[in-house]
This record gives sequence, structure tokens and C-alpha cells, in this order.
Amino acid sequence: MEKVSAKLTDEEYEKSMSTTLSTRMAAVKMSPTTALFGKVEELRRKGEDIVSLNVGEPDFPTPDNIKEAGIRAINENFTKYTTGNGIAPLREAIIEKMKKDNGVTYEMNEVAVTVGAKQALFGALCAVAGEGDEVIIPIPCYVSYPDMVALAGAKPVLVKRKDDFSLDLEAIESAINEHTKAVIICTPDNPTGKVYGEDELKGLSDLAISRDIFVISDEIYEKIIYGENRHKSISAFEGMKDRTIVVNGFSKTYSMTGWRLGYVCGRADVIGAAVKVQSQTTTTPPSISQYAAVEALCGPQDSVELMRSEFEKRRDFVQEKLRGIPGVICHEIQGAFYAFFDIRAFLGKEYEGYGIIDDDTRLCEYLLEKYGVAMMPGSAYFAPGFVRISFASSMEVLKKALSRIESGLKAHKC
Ligand SMILES: Cc1ncc(COP(=O)(O)O)c(C=O)c1O
Repeated sequence: MEKVSAKLTDEEYEKSMSTTLSTRMAAVKMSPTTALFGKVEELRRKGEDIVSLNVGEPDFPTPDNIKEAGIRAINENFTKYTTGNGIAPLREAIIEKMKKDNGVTYEMNEVAVTVGAKQALFGALCAVAGEGDEVIIPIPCYVSYPDMVALAGAKPVLVKRKDDFSLDLEAIESAINEHTKAVIICTPDNPTGKVYGEDELKGLSDLAISRDIFVISDEIYEKIIYGENRHKSISAFEGMKDRTIVVNGFSKTYSMTGWRLGYVCGRADVIGAAVKVQSQTTTTPPSISQYAAVEALCGPQDSVELMRSEFEKRRDFVQEKLRGIPGVICHEIQGAFYAFFDIRAFLGKEYEGYGIIDDDTRLCEYLLEKYGVAMMPGSAYFAPGFVRISFASSMEVLKKALSRIESGLKAHKC
């Protein structure tokens, strides 16, 4: 096919291509996790031995009973579009689960199945926030929240959490104004591993009620929780069911990241709007995955506990090792599978071949290039001076990684 540009001078061609991206895109960045993934792949292609602690997905296979349900769905030809909000048996199973785990009863039109928890979050945000609206995000936070808010057309308002990563309710209250539509929380939390206690959740629910805003509660790590810590959904407090948009999914609890399935529960009009967004973008969640997910929720749950207890052993190991490195501060990891530790004591120091390293991003680059360990800089989560590692890797890999981190951190000159 002849190129139209063939008849144009360079200058005319440049002009003809001056159409620009939308202004909304200027407020959205590529996920830093994806960017680091590319760099790790490049180093591996060059033959480098890289230990990768940057990826946020369980290393276990999807449990067999769930895989078999997926295979059955294919063989029985459940391979077509489904209803936009998900198949009825799955929404019924979600309702049962929410009743049992959270103590909250939903109707069928208050639940929608989505393409991963990410689509649930995006649909929920589009449903409640747009041009001129603000959404409060306590930081450190999951990398995607601010960009999703911006994609929805609203303004993300970042509010620092306390030093122990609990919610700073006073700071949240002062950030609320007439434009505020919602606060997003995540418990158990990515990246900090914090599980919010009942008191702070009650405090936030009082605030949401008195200031008339929504809470978007990302509970995707609810089953990956350690020691005495217990998950409490903010939706269970009095007056909060209709004010909370609960986001959850199958990726973490059932090691189903690639099946792309999540769900969202809340007020019927909010869920209806989130489904509209889904219907105009991805049409429906994947049919095969939905049949597999019915088995995930209704079948035996022993694999969930097996994975959780394995994560707990790794948590104990990683936490102890990090705390054993003088200068590293690592708070108790209460849930999820990340350690988020303070490395400020290692900044402003000289490292061979790197000069003085002043920030967490450069420190992570140094540890990747020189010690072959890939970690996420805290800046990606709006917490400079911190580093996040995922312990969704075997004990063998973690032992190697921790010893590399320790050597790399200790190798400064002064
Ligand atoms: C806090 C949090 N929410 C949502 C997601 C997205 O999950 P899904 O794979 O279900 O889209 C992730 C994935 O890393 C996450 O960490």
C-alpha cells in the first residue's frame, strides 16, 4: 500500500502527524513494576543471574480442583460471552462468601464479576469519581491507584500514613473537601503488609459517614494474613454497607493471576455503573475463568491455608533476616507477601562504581546491576527511602536474595 506520506515533504509529514495524545494520558504513567520487569528480562538475556523479588504474584500453581473446573468448562463449551456482571452461580457464591467472611449480605444486583480486581477498581472509580472530583489515597499505596483515579478523570489526593503505616485519620479528615468522593484503602496492604485494626477502620467509617463519602476497600489479600492479625472489612460497620465498595479477586488467594478474575460489591447503582464501564470496554469477564472461580469459592479450601502457611514461613525468614541487617528498619509484616523496609540509613553513602547514592531508586539499580537482585524502590509507592520485596518465591531463592541484599547494603565505603 502506498504511504500517504510519500507525497509529502518532511516538514509537511511532521505537520500531518501532529495529532496529540489526550491530556488525560499526561497524568498517567506506565506501571513501574512493568518497566522493571523489562529491565530484568534484558539482564537475563545477557546471561546475568538475576534474583527477582519485584513480582507480586504467588509462585504456586493454581490448585488442581480449580484447573479441572476450567478444563470442564472448556469441554462443556462454556466458552462464550456471559452476562456483563458475571454468571449467576458465581455471583451467588460471592454472596455466600461475603456473608460468611464479612458478615454482610448482598443482593444479586449488588455484586459484579470483573476482569481482575483491577477492572473492579477502575469500574468503581469511574462509577463514583470524574472531572472535578477528588479521591483520597493514603500513601504508601498500590502503584495503580493514583493512575486509575487520573484515568477516571478525577484528582488523586495523596495523604501520608503514620510511620507504622496505620491510617492518619486526622490527615485524611483535613484532606476532605466538597470535591472529595472517596478514600481508597487496602487491607492487608500492598506494599506495606499492614493490616488495619478495627479501631482505625471504625474511625474511618465514622469519617466516611459524617463527611458523606465512599470507601473503596481493596481486600484482595484478605486470606494472606499472619499470626494474630485478623481481616475486618470496613463494609461490616453499621451504616457502611452502601458506602463501601469492596474490591476482591481470585489472583492472590487462589493463585489465579492469569485467569483475570475479580469482583466488586456495593450499592446497586454503583455496581450497575461499574458494569457499564466493563460492558463498554471488555464486554464480560472470561467465561472459563468464571466456572473455575465457582469451584475456587465452593470447593475445598485447604490449598488456601497451605499457601498461606508457606507464605508465613517465608515472612518469618525474610523479616528476621532484614531486621538482622544493622540500619534496616522492617515493621511487622502482618499480611500480603511483601516486605517494605526502610533503607534511609544506606543513603548518602558511597558505593564502588556508583559514587554517592542518594535515593532508593538508584540504590535498587545498584543492587540489581551489581548484586543481581531486583526489588521495587519505595518511590514507586510514594515512599522514598524504602524498598519493597515480594516473598512469593521459594525459600531457596529468598535465602540467596537476602544474602545478596545484605552484602550489597554493607558494601558502602563510609
Ligand atoms: C492491592 C492490589 N489490588 C489489586 C491488584 C490487581 O489484582 P488482579 O490481578 O485481580 O487484577 C493487585 C495486584 O497486584 C494488588 O496488589
